[in-house]
Amino acid sequence: MTISLNTLAARGAQVLALTALAASMAAAQTPGKLKVGLMLPYTGTFAALGTAIENGFRQHVTELGGKIAGREVEYFKVDDESDPSKATDNVNKLIKRDQVDVLIGSVHSGVAMAMAKSAKESGTLLIVPNAGADAVTGAMCANNIFRSSFSNWQPGYAMGEVMAKKGIKKVVTITWKYAAGDESVRGFKESFEKGGGTVVKELNLPFPGVEFQGLLTEIAAAKPDAVFTFFAGGGAVKFVKDYSAAGLKKSIPLYGSGFLTDGNLEAQGEAADGLFTALHYADSLDTKRDNAFRLNYAKTYRLQPDVYAVQGYDAAQMLAIGLNATKGDASKSAEISAALRKVTIDSPRGPFTISKAHNPVQDFYLRQAGAKENKKVGIASAKLEDPARGCKL
Ligand code: BEZ
Repeated sequence: MTISLNTLAARGAQVLALTALAASMAAAQTPGKLKVGLMLPYTGTFAALGTAIENGFRQHVTELGGKIAGREVEYFKVDDESDPSKATDNVNKLIKRDQVDVLIGSVHSGVAMAMAKSAKESGTLLIVPNAGADAVTGAMCANNIFRSSFSNWQPGYAMGEVMAKKGIKKVVTITWKYAAGDESVRGFKESFEKGGGTVVKELNLPFPGVEFQGLLTEIAAAKPDAVFTFFAGGGAVKFVKDYSAAGLKKSIPLYGSGFLTDGNLEAQGEAADGLFTALHYADSLDTKRDNAFRLNYAKTYRLQPDVYAVQGYDAAQMLAIGLNATKGDASKSAEISAALRKVTIDSPRGPFTISKAHNPVQDFYLRQAGAKENKKVGIASAKLEDPARGCKL
């Protein structure tokens, strides 16, 4: 029998094609590492918040043996500097250059909105572990966008309910002029005014400014019954100290969403003593779940955890629940959504569920700041659900 050179070449090509097919089938059966893109602030006024989120996220991944849905976790990191003007370029480094499977970020509402837009366009799975921008689980909601934290509306609304019930009538608000400040005040106003109170003045300064003196003088002149504020991170430390140093703390009680004092008590010292805030976490929950989380965190990082660490930890829990439902495939967002919408997350903050719009439905605690902790003194608002205005999921 004679075999022509042409036949031999054709058989060779068939063998090569079969080998390539077998290799690609094997690759499909054993998905590679799970690429997790952490886009967080590691510099600036929110630097400590970004680090706490990463710590919490890694803590849960470590508890899972370094794998999620059977895939070894590999991290890619970008410092977003809490700068919305750089956010699209930054998130594209993770989506296009590093080709991550999932984005975790960020802290600043303006940065998170840019991330949500890119996630929506590219279909990349996004879990927001802090930023409260209402639109993320409102008008921008999508099957592939989730939040493990809160909407800005929520803690503001919870504090407004508490202050109205206390019989406070006239309030001045003060915050940074950007989505988180504006929306916290809007949430506060909604419940406070429903409860019979009036916001007599809304004061602002640009983010991340800390020139508070002129505004404190305006508060003193307005003589309200109380002040409601949203500040967080390094800016909140300075605000609480300046408020006390200006002598206002004794005459005009200061209330806030809990970011004012969370993670900040050591730096704020006596200036924070006695302040009431509302948040979905407190340092004294004293549940089995939270005690175990806190002990582990303290052992690993030699630090006490705060709300940001909890939100990072729960972002990893949510990712694991979602990917376990799809055998590790991060692109199946409808299945991930269905899985997360039907579970109760066993969080250190207490159990919570995920709304139709993908935002936590959770208790907001009333807390009082003491020397060492943000102590839970009651429930400000139970199982509070964001209204998800504009979401069409
Ligand atoms: C925000 O920008 O959404 C935010 C930042 C820090 C704490 C809470 C909210």
